[in-house]
Amino acid sequence: MSRVLVLNGPNLGRLGSREPDVYGAQDLSALRALLAERAVEGTEIDLRQTDDEAELIHWLYEAVDTSTPVILNPAAFTHYSYALSDAAKLVTKAGIPLIEVHISNPHAREEFRHTSVISSVATGTIAGFGFDSYVLALVALGQG
Ligand code: DQA
Repeated sequence: MSRVLVLNGPNLGRLGSREPDVYGAQDLSALRALLAERAVEGTEIDLRQTDDEAELIHWLYEAVDTSTPVILNPAAFTHYSYALSDAAKLVTKAGIPLIEVHISNPHAREEFRHTSVISSVATGTIAGFGFDSYVLALVALGQG
């Protein structure tokens, strides 16, 4: 059994009720079910969400220590967290893939969302496809 860490940052616990016009009407448990359905057999989806920067960083350390590929939606941390960027860099420098995903297309939104401090250290970025951004990331990892 191989595992993929699907890590979600602040306010994504409110999916379903948070700006449904932007993020859709489905919640995180629907995302978990979708990814479990779309993952290749033998891949475990370990989906987590936190509003806490330190917790997210510690989960990236866990990815390094266990050589586990990561799908990361850093949410608002995307735009300013150098601490999260450094932790993401630890993952990719260890040769472990880390795909940055966004449900919306941040480049089509407010100016502050146009900057990502994660993209330059990520293996790749997928944005703008709703929950399918995560499915496409699974495919990119060869696990979907
Ligand atoms: C987001 C985009 C970010 O700008 C925003 O802060 C989020 C969600 C997305 O998935 O589209 O919380 O990462």
